[in-house]
Amino acid sequence: MNYEALYSLSKERHSCRDFEPTPLTEEQIRQLLQLARTAPFASGRKNWDIHVVTDRGIIDRMAAAVDQESDVLREKVAPEYAGMFGGYARYFSLFKKAPALFIPVFRVSPTLKILLGDHCTPEITTMERDNMVKSISCVAMLILLGAQSLGLGACYMTGGLVAEKKLKEILQMPSGQEIGAIIPVGNPAKKCSA
Ligand SMILES: Cc1cc2nc3c(=O)[nH]c(=O)nc-3n(C[C@H](O)[C@H](O)[C@H](O)COP(=O)(O)O)c2cc1C
Repeated sequence: MNYEALYSLSKERHSCRDFEPTPLTEEQIRQLLQLARTAPFASGRKNWDIHVVTDRGIIDRMAAAVDQESDVLREKVAPEYAGMFGGYARYFSLFKKAPALFIPVFRVSPTLKILLGDHCTPEITTMERDNMVKSISCVAMLILLGAQSLGLGACYMTGGLVAEKKLKEILQMPSGQEIGAIIPVGNPAKKCSA
C-alpha cells in the first residue's frame, strides 16, 4: 500500500513553472519544511537549512539578478550558440511566478580535509563538497514530493545559481553559506510547465 501510494505520487509529479498568485498557507509551509527536514545527510553533519522566501519584492529582485547575469553570459557565447543559450537560460529565472521559494542552503563540512591536513587530496576536497550538494538533492526531492502530495506544484531549479553571488546578497546570507537550489512552490496554474 505504501509503495503504491509513493509510486503514484512520484509518477504524477512533474515540474511546475507557472503558478496562481495565491500564497501558500502557513500550514503548507510548515508541512513541507517538516518533511524536508527528514532528509538523510552526509558525514553525520546536518550542515544545511532551508530558507523560505514569500516576499514578492525579493523574488522579483532575485529573478531580475538571474536575468541580468544571463544577459551578460549571452554576450560571451559564440554568436551561433546565442539562440540556444537564450532558450536554455530562459528557464533559469522561471521561479519568478511562484508565491514561495524554498531555498536549501548549505555549508561545506571539510571534516576529512581538517583531519588529513596536507595529505588531503583534490578528490577528497571535491567529495566533501559534493556530499553537501547530494544532501541538498535529498532535501529537494522531498520538497517536490511533499508539494505534490499537498496538491501544489514545484520545480527543482539550479540554473539561477549562475547569479549565486548576487542572490546571496539579496538573501543576506552569511559568507561560507551556499545555495543548493531554488525551488518555486505554489498552486499550479492550469498549464503549469513552461
Ligand atoms: C539539478 C536540477 C536542476 C534543474 N534546474 C532547472 C532550472 O534551472 N530551471 C528549470 O526550469 N528546470 C530545472 N530543472 C527541472 C528539469 O528541467 C526537469 O526536472 C526535467 O526536465 C524533467 O521534467 P519533470 O521534472 O517534469 O519530470 C532542474 C532539475 C534538476 C534535477
